[in-house]
Amino acid sequence: MQINTFLKIYIPLPFFPVRKRFFRQNHRETCVTAEHMVQGTGSEHGQGDEGDAGDGGDGGTGMSGDAGTQGRRDGTREAQGASMGKETKATGAPVPLFAHNAPPRTENCNEKNVSAFAIQVKLWHIMAETEGIFMAIRIIHFSDPHAGGPAEDWMAYLDKRWVGVFNYRFRRRFRHDQSKFKRAVEYILDTRPDIAVCTGDLTSTGQPGEFAVMREILRPLRESSIPLIYTPGNHDCYVHRPSCMKAVNDTYREVNRGREFTDLPVRLEICGIDFLVVNTSRPSNLLCSWGFLDHRDAEWIAVRSQEHPGVTKILVNHYPMFEDHPFLRVRHRLFGEKPVRRLIESGAIDLSLCGHVHKPYCRVDATGRGENCAGSVTRNGSMVEILFDGKNFTYKTIQL
Ligand SMILES: [Fe+2]
Ligand SMILES: [Fe+2]
Repeated sequence: MQINTFLKIYIPLPFFPVRKRFFRQNHRETCVTAEHMVQGTGSEHGQGDEGDAGDGGDGGTGMSGDAGTQGRRDGTREAQGASMGKETKATGAPVPLFAHNAPPRTENCNEKNVSAFAIQVKLWHIMAETEGIFMAIRIIHFSDPHAGGPAEDWMAYLDKRWVGVFNYRFRRRFRHDQSKFKRAVEYILDTRPDIAVCTGDLTSTGQPGEFAVMREILRPLRESSIPLIYTPGNHDCYVHRPSCMKAVNDTYREVNRGREFTDLPVRLEICGIDFLVVNTSRPSNLLCSWGFLDHRDAEWIAVRSQEHPGVTKILVNHYPMFEDHPFLRVRHRLFGEKPVRRLIESGAIDLSLCGHVHKPYCRVDATGRGENCAGSVTRNGSMVEILFDGKNFTYKTIQL
């Protein structure tokens, strides 16, 4: 018996209820969560309103960008539809299969979990491939929560930290609502995406106490089986002070479940996608928040972008590759980004995920390829949900 025939006949049997659910999903008008389907109690409808403007990069500038529509999530278990740049009201057209309506794919991505259930999910994937079905990957992208606090040692008044402490004391703490970050973590645990990505700036001055607060908030997510990628922002690498560098190292290791900060850049293969994770954040001078993509990292990205032809590649770093607002060019610019920008434009890299600019935006083509900035989860009160159906990326704003 040919292997294809075997797979088609024998493997689908234990998945029969799931298969029914899969095909039914393809004809649904909008997305519902797995809980709705199990309990059958959730009403579903799409709703979207015009996205708020938001403002500011790290320094608070207003910048042009795609206007985003936002769907509000409330406790009534209503399904929300909202997208960045597109309305997602029910249209009657088939929608991509959301991964959380299929068997929990996260099991497949969790290296630690080798169970019978994981084997079942593996078989499901083989079956899906055999039948030419690609199940959509769901990524939740958030950034820039910016915890803050007072100076933690007297040396803070002799280095750049006093600027950050002053900034937090008189400006940032009124703008960033940390309760939204807690809600973001709850939402991710609730909806179980295939991957969660944080593109940096967990803190304001990179001090150990700030990292400790954020690690505690992230702990339930870290202890879950949801794959989590974190790359530091410029505020996480604020100064060269050994205690601060140790704090960012420890946080990186803890959040990334044992991976070392010194391993960056690193390629992570999760759910069939190559994530190229790079650190572009370095301690900078007193007045600027510059990022640096050095030659070695740029070459590494170029080499990795040519490997695994046909595999989708997503670049993860803190700084925008394309944001060219004059304010960013002066105080918040990224140096050395041009070769990578060309790779994104040529399609060698499908998508760049970044933060730093405290306003969510998408700079993408018709297939959703390009760059996505998540904005600040505590300032904009939003995250971005990215769906990849094997061909196109689509974006939704999750309003917390
Ligand atoms: Fe930031
Ligand atoms: Fe930043």
